[in-house]
Amino acid sequence: MDNAGTFPAVRPRRLRTTAAMRRMVAEHRVHPADLILPAFVREGVDDPVPLGSMPGVAQHSLDSLRKAAGEAAEAGVSGIMLFGVPDEAKKDAIGSPGTDPDGILQRALRAVRAEVGDALVVMSDLCLDEVTDHGHCGVLDAEGRVDNDATLARYAEMARVQAEAGAHVLGPSGMMDGQVGHVRAALDAAGHTDVALLAYTAKFASAFYGPFREAVNSSLTGDRKAYQQDPPNAREALRELAQDLAEGADMVMVKPGLPYLDVLRQVVDASPVPVGAYQISGEYAMVEAAAERGWLDRERAIEETLTSFKRAGADVILTYWATEFAQRWGRER
Ligand code: PBG
Repeated sequence: MDNAGTFPAVRPRRLRTTAAMRRMVAEHRVHPADLILPAFVREGVDDPVPLGSMPGVAQHSLDSLRKAAGEAAEAGVSGIMLFGVPDEAKKDAIGSPGTDPDGILQRALRAVRAEVGDALVVMSDLCLDEVTDHGHCGVLDAEGRVDNDATLARYAEMARVQAEAGAHVLGPSGMMDGQVGHVRAALDAAGHTDVALLAYTAKFASAFYGPFREAVNSSLTGDRKAYQQDPPNAREALRELAQDLAEGADMVMVKPGLPYLDVLRQVVDASPVPVGAYQISGEYAMVEAAAERGWLDRERAIEETLTSFKRAGADVILTYWATEFAQRWGRER
């Protein structure tokens, strides 16, 4: 390779001349099997409720969720990640709807399993923010701070009811220390040794969760900076990774996606287990809003962002465009 880069013999543009040529030499491509669809389900609605800040995404009714799960499976998407939105009146300080076997998330899990069986990997968010009246990811102590260890006890119970409702994979997303090990032990003690854990390993306190607050009717005032990671810190993600692996994480994830591709790459390089990237609500909203104004080509932007996760080494990608992308893939390839 001693003449690498020597012009005029060497012309990298030769491999960019036609679409067929570019397709042949592409180092990375996104396949429907790489994708997981995050989906919201709201208690007590008969029809889906569209989200203003996420055009094309809705809070599903149980019926429309079943349909969406069926369409995702049909399109070849690998999994679905469910978030429950309970009746406002049922939220309380400890997040009771999260441990009620008839809570909306548990009902959604049963409905989706009944619809798709094992054709999709059915996952659920394991966190308290959707079900607490203060909107934090854990229970609060007397000073109003999130109490790590008291929260772990709630997560353990949530894990049991979610597993009983039929989840294949649980996604502990609250960034409490020890959450993976605690949830693993609770599942094993209840006989759910086959239920896997997708650990939110590096989850940053991000402004890009904005639209998600609308999606789950969040009650939060303030922020999550005392438990989610601080955006400037990358090495800290490797410490979280080591801990999650030691506690039994089956898969790990980096979140948000685009602003943290460097962290994703570092986690991929260090992880013996599959790594996910979560393209979150604000990333979705950014592209949709710009496309709506005609400021960028929507489909190209979607494919480019998804490809960037594969290039950074992600094995799976959570994206609100999962079904749409998979359907397009099926039509075009
Ligand atoms: C916590 C949780 C959040 C998201 C997924 N799980 C919100 C947060 O941490 O504030 C965000 C997902 C998105 O923005 O698309 N249960």
